Amino acid sequence: MNGKFLVTTPIYYINDKPSVGSAYTTIIADILARWNRLKEIDTFFLTGLDENSSKTVKAAKEKKYKDIQNYADDMYKEWVKVWKKLNISYDGFIRTTSEKHKKIVQDFFNKAYKKGDIYLGEYEGLYCGGCEEFKRETDLEGGLCPYHKTKPLKIKERNYFFKLSKYEEDILKLVKKNEKFVLPKSRRTEIINFIESGLTDISVSRPNLKWGIDVPFDKNQKVWVWYDALYNYKSGVDKKYWKGRVVHLVGKDIQKFHCIIWPAMLLSASESLPTTIFSHGFFTINGEKMSKSLGNAIDPVYISEKYGVDALRYFLIKEISFGEDGDFSEEDLKKRLNNELANDLGNLVSRVLTLVEKEKVMLRGKKELEKKLDLKKIEKLMNEYELTEALKEIWKFVIECNKYVNDKKPWGLKGKELENVLYNLVESLRIIAILLSPFIPETCDRINKQLGVKAGKLKDCKFGKFKGKIKKGEVLFRKI
Ligand code: MSP
Repeated sequence: MNGKFLVTTPIYYINDKPSVGSAYTTIIADILARWNRLKEIDTFFLTGLDENSSKTVKAAKEKKYKDIQNYADDMYKEWVKVWKKLNISYDGFIRTTSEKHKKIVQDFFNKAYKKGDIYLGEYEGLYCGGCEEFKRETDLEGGLCPYHKTKPLKIKERNYFFKLSKYEEDILKLVKKNEKFVLPKSRRTEIINFIESGLTDISVSRPNLKWGIDVPFDKNQKVWVWYDALYNYKSGVDKKYWKGRVVHLVGKDIQKFHCIIWPAMLLSASESLPTTIFSHGFFTINGEKMSKSLGNAIDPVYISEKYGVDALRYFLIKEISFGEDGDFSEEDLKKRLNNELANDLGNLVSRVLTLVEKEKVMLRGKKELEKKLDLKKIEKLMNEYELTEALKEIWKFVIECNKYVNDKKPWGLKGKELENVLYNLVESLRIIAILLSPFIPETCDRINKQLGVKAGKLKDCKFGKFKGKIKKGEVLFRKI
């Protein structure tokens, strides 16, 4: 380990604006990136757009664009606007229509061809345009794609194949030997079962397409969009970040591409492998399956304008146990906003700072509340991607601080006793603002401002470091 951390999101299709689903993965990546920056690890957070899909062409036509690249450029502006709104602190943004990306894909394609890992063949199969993938009969449910509920097209074409079967044993060994390669555990078992059912070579080019990256030695073929897209993890980032910890975050719908095809592509090219592919669950909307193609996608901008960005970020992590499936409901979001963010955290900050401003005493005393904080546990949970559990553990401390106020009743105290209680509470608020900053960064900036301190690092999560000048500001959350 050389103290570098690379975290990536899938690159998203641009047939639509971001949904709360794509926002979910991106927020998680943002939390991991911010957490590693707190630990002062050299971090790179990569996200981007998968623009070479036939979905792009279809959407551009539907929206009456003459020039597909213009459509892609407009969608790019739309996506970055949304990520800015959601406080996504990415370091790199890769677009697959960029020249830099195209060149890397073609270089890798050539390399695999020269090695004999890519060959020309004929393929007959069922293609799902939604997944951009050939399906096996056994992948379908009632003849339909289980994700898109559509009937795949029967296609017979001549195209280039990648020798996935050649890497079957290596990948199986890799996944079995390395417990952290595919996380969480349940998904690792799924992947092992899939590999053990046998890997066949895959088609990695499509003939007769107008949009996409040319196969470098055959102008009649475009590179299959997945084979192109996966290379974003190389084209979008400086090589040095591949020498440290590399984590790909993906939804469980696309884990197979990341846990099987991508490692095989990397092995073929003699490139280093990612450390972990974490596939999180999917959430439904009020109990219904959500997807762009089913048309019930929720707009994260609408939610964040109505309830605040941090309410959305907080809700997604606290409500949906990370790694598992869950449900998104505005009613539940409102409850958590009112009860947890406004009551537990907002009121705590407001009560403490009102007292400090009113009493104007020295802040000094014994470290009483520090013992209630299990920093080691929080660190362990965060490092093991147990984000929901880590947030719960931080929240326990918020609750402890509230309990401390209620038990000590500082409004009736004087002298040393008052100094001690306020000292404990102010130091705790400062630490809470550090620990919560990956999850709700805007709120933590506001707490820091009211405390009169700069944003701290993980090493500052101990008592005795407060040097601010307190100036109480507006309430953190308004109840809905
Ligand atoms: N373009 C491919 C990925 C290529 S990566 C080399 C793709 N794009 S996508 O736009 O369809 O984004 C899919 C990702 O969005 C999922 O893997 C998941 O991370 C996220 N989600 C979309 N809907 C979601 C939910 N309902 N719930 C959770 N995550 C969701 O696939």
